[in-house]
Amino acid sequence: MPQNFRLVALGIVTVSLVCSSSFSQPQKSPVHAEGHPWWQDAVFYEVYPRSFADSNGDGIGDLKGIESKLDYLQQLGVDAIWITPCYPSPQVDFGYDVSDYENIDPMYGTLADFDHLVEAAKKRHIRIIMDFVINHTSDRHPWFLDSKSSRTSAHRDWYIWRDGQAGGQPPNNWLSGFGGSAWKFDPNSGQYYYHYFATAQPDLNWRNPAVEKAMFDVTRFWYMHGVSGFRLDAVDLLFEDPKLRDNPIRPGKDEMGDPNMLNRYNDKLPENHQVLRRLRSVADESGAVLLGETYTDSAAELKEYYGAHNDEIQLPMDFMFCTVDQLSAPAFRKQIALAEATGGWPTYVIGNHDMARSYVRYGDGKHNDQIAKLMAAMYLTLRGTPVMYYGEEIGMENNDPKRKADVKDPMGITGWPKYKGRDGERTPMQWNDSAHAGFTTGTPWLPVPLSAQTHNVEREWNDRNSILQFYRQLLLLHHRNPALRDGDYVALDQDDPHVLAYLRRYKKQAVLVILNMSGTAQQVSFDLSPQGFFSAKAKTILTTSTLAPSGPLDHIALEPFAVYIAQVSP
Ligand code: NOJ
Repeated sequence: MPQNFRLVALGIVTVSLVCSSSFSQPQKSPVHAEGHPWWQDAVFYEVYPRSFADSNGDGIGDLKGIESKLDYLQQLGVDAIWITPCYPSPQVDFGYDVSDYENIDPMYGTLADFDHLVEAAKKRHIRIIMDFVINHTSDRHPWFLDSKSSRTSAHRDWYIWRDGQAGGQPPNNWLSGFGGSAWKFDPNSGQYYYHYFATAQPDLNWRNPAVEKAMFDVTRFWYMHGVSGFRLDAVDLLFEDPKLRDNPIRPGKDEMGDPNMLNRYNDKLPENHQVLRRLRSVADESGAVLLGETYTDSAAELKEYYGAHNDEIQLPMDFMFCTVDQLSAPAFRKQIALAEATGGWPTYVIGNHDMARSYVRYGDGKHNDQIAKLMAAMYLTLRGTPVMYYGEEIGMENNDPKRKADVKDPMGITGWPKYKGRDGERTPMQWNDSAHAGFTTGTPWLPVPLSAQTHNVEREWNDRNSILQFYRQLLLLHHRNPALRDGDYVALDQDDPHVLAYLRRYKKQAVLVILNMSGTAQQVSFDLSPQGFFSAKAKTILTTSTLAPSGPLDHIALEPFAVYIAQVSP
């Protein structure tokens, strides 16, 4: 993962469960018996539309492709799919440069295709979440074209325009996350505009009420089209210091080769929260959920995103969890405790389209499949809402470009060779072992790795020990087990350097989760009487181990990287 980009600033046992179908439209669905709104019980699944399924052979995924895979997603057990931007866009940043917020890019289909997808998903109890690129537009958006046309244009103040400093210098020292100055000079009007990301992604001026109104109306438009919420892109960058004070520079360089800057004056300004509260009010009118791309450095910062009265983002994604870039029981224990300490409902992710795939981040090169199951067992049994990344459930690996000429991601082009960009984690979904993994009949926009021969949906569907089948079992448990749905998180054996263990305790029952995060065999024992489980016995419900027997909790032998999940009764 790049260090400067704020993205990082960062089975063996079969469970006898039946498929869950716990929500029904309309969108203002009731809370369930324990008082949870639907999104707390849901498992979200991120779809990168360029790479999911191509229905027309042009090498790029599309909405009809996604629709053709809804049965798979339903059988996998996901409740909502978050589709990264599929709006009209010049595709400089693959959709994160939007030129029309209220339409679908022809490469992905039409608005009618989108409506059809929403209906088809609804029939399968799957909700659709759109990506709201709230901080910036494309430089081809009509608002920006007008803004740029003259200093007096109607949309001039919809973006951040400033005079430069003497000597042809930009207004201040702020840097773009995509490399270089965050200011671009426009010779036509003689001023600079601000862009946190690529030059083709000018930042909107959220101090202008007209911007807020227009953007809030965008969300209303999509609620009318049946979406159940939004993932908020780059949501902590909405405001900039009005005085444009220079940011402090720290020693060293970032991964883009720029000075190592602390974004004190253009990141996480308090004004963000006022907008979030108002955006939440609009969402509440439709019973919608907001997921946040919320990069935080502390539990206190993460807590702020829920809002002082739980009136901001319902699901701020906890990226501190992703900063644990090693398989370490103490490190994950600490992060989970921090998320719990916010008092909010945690939202866990282990991968997305901006970071190397979890399969390679945590894998040791020899036991990657086991480790992929271990990671899944962790984040799908914690208290909170998990957000999966497409392909994670089959153990997709990164396929980074080998030559600069092959790089598509603008960050990779600037960051090469130190940072190869994000193409590697965005490769086509691996459906089967045919040409291009069954993603397209044409030439895929990114190449499929060789591992598609072994790690693909078709093959893993038919292998009861596969990562995919393990995910399916976990998702069933996640939905059906009362302790996993509603139980508290209780950390166990907090000094164990190798084994992460916890209870999910609900009324008189609990689920015990034991994860051997080491490559060596471990032996553990638990006394659960402090938790109210005297002479407790465990009954295995899901394990990757051939050793772990059901029974007393005083000798549990764990193979390297073993997962042991058991129901505990008093
Ligand atoms: C965050 C998105 O996840 C990333 O892919 C994109 O490049 C930036 N925001 C800019 O929109």
